[in-house]
Parts: sequence; C-alpha cells; structure tokens
Amino acid sequence: MSRVIAPTDLAAAGPGPAVPQHVAIIMDGNGRWATARHLPRTAGHERGVEALRRTVEAAGDLGIRYLTVFSFSTENWRRPAAEVSTLFSLLKTYVQLDLARLKREGVRIRVIGERGGLPPDIASLVSMAEAETRDNARFNLTIAFNYGSRDEIARAASAFARDVADGKCSADIREADFARYLDTSGLPDPDLMVRTSGEYRISNFLLWQAAYAELVFLDVLWPDFGRAQLEEALRRYAERERRYGAVSPGAG
Ligand code: FPP
Repeated sequence: MSRVIAPTDLAAAGPGPAVPQHVAIIMDGNGRWATARHLPRTAGHERGVEALRRTVEAAGDLGIRYLTVFSFSTENWRRPAAEVSTLFSLLKTYVQLDLARLKREGVRIRVIGERGGLPPDIASLVSMAEAETRDNARFNLTIAFNYGSRDEIARAASAFARDVADGKCSADIREADFARYLDTSGLPDPDLMVRTSGEYRISNFLLWQAAYAELVFLDVLWPDFGRAQLEEALRRYAERERRYGAVSPGAG
C-alpha cells in the first residue's frame, strides 16, 4: 500500500464522494469456493486470507481509510470444531505474519467482538497488535472476530446500565452516548457494506453502525475477491444517492 489513488472512472462518477471513507465487508463463500474444487472447506478460508491481504492493499490505494471485515461470527461456533479451530489459527498467523508490515505501512489494527471468548494466547496477541499500532492513522483495519451485532449491543447496554447504576452517567440516553459503548467506539459508521457470494443478508454484522450504509452484493466468492471486485463495489456505491432520510436536492 504505497499511494492513494482513485482511478479516474471512480473519481469522476456520481455526485457524492466517489470513494467511501469506511467499507465493511462480509467475506462470504470460502466454503463453496473450496467445495467446487474438491478441497476441504478450510482451504477456502486459507485462500480467504490471501483475498483479505489483496483487499487491504487495494483499499489503501483507492483512498479508503477504514476497512472492517467479518472474520468469525458468534454464530460460527456452530461449525465443526476443526473448522472453528482453523479460523482461530488463521487469525493468529495473520497477525503474527503481517503485523510488522502493517505497522510499517501505517495501519491501525483493531479487533471487535466478544474478547472473553477468545483463547488467552489469541486474546493477548490481539491486544498486543492493537497496542503496537495504536498511533497509526493512515489506514484502519478492523477485524470482527467472535463478533455478533446483537451480542455487541447487549454488551453495550449492560456496560451502560452498570455506569448508570454506579452514578457515572445519566440514564437519559442519546444515540451518540450509547455508540460510545459499542465495540466500534471511535470508528466512523460504514458508508458501504459489501457482501460476497451472492447472498443477500447482513447476518448480524454492524446492525447499529450500518443504519445508513449503502449495501452492495456481489456474486464473487470471497477467495476470488481482489482489487477489481473492490473497484466494482465502489463503482456501484458512486452511483447511489445518499439521502439519510431527507429528499434529493431540487425534489418538488
Ligand atoms: C464465510 O464463508 C467466511 C467465514 C465464516 C470466515 C471468513 C474468514 C476468512 C476470510 C479468513 C480468516 C481471516 C482472518 C484474518 C481470521 P463460508 O465458510 O460461510 O462460505 P460458504 O457460505 O460458501 O460455506
């Protein structure tokens, strides 16, 4: 990730900002990618990490500042133990192998989700990666791991209730006050949410934060995702008109 460029066709498209500040991705289709090749599902997840590397690189080049990816959901515990274990190992090796480079490139790493559910070695590795990159501001990579949006909102509500009970804040809640209790505190809301694999769901990902996100669904399976597919998502985003509940300028 060496420069910030917006391809001319993207920069020229549409009335609003062509490049979203924050893109969230549901990386779906690893299993189908592997099954189609008579490979174990875990091979799809391994190739999924390669797609993630390509996407981080491309996102930085295209001028995106925040990328949040869904890597392991609170519902993914229902998968076979071997697959769950592979996903945990992939998070571990991704951080171990890529941390130094990401740190050099100015990437701040965050991991959102229920931290208590991670094995202690992974939880401490994640905390170390967050601390090591805390001062980076060029690009923000957030990995949702053991994450579910309803779980996040419930945990936030509990923390808020505790603070009210302790007299630390008033129960007269405002949206922005509550958002500070979410795992994503400090991050802007996603402008664009992409899901791969041709499924049309958001599957408990960033339900609060994506209130006004533009949704783009692509047919590509996640292991085949890369720069061209990200550019396609941005092209579709640039064609949208974001009104946030208001009306178009000039509408009668
Ligand atoms: C969904 O595909 C994908 C996941 C549940 C895991 C996503 C994980 C990665 C891309 C790699 C891990 C990266 C890190 C950094 C930990 P699926 O398995 O549901 O695919 P299917 O719908 O075709 O079965």
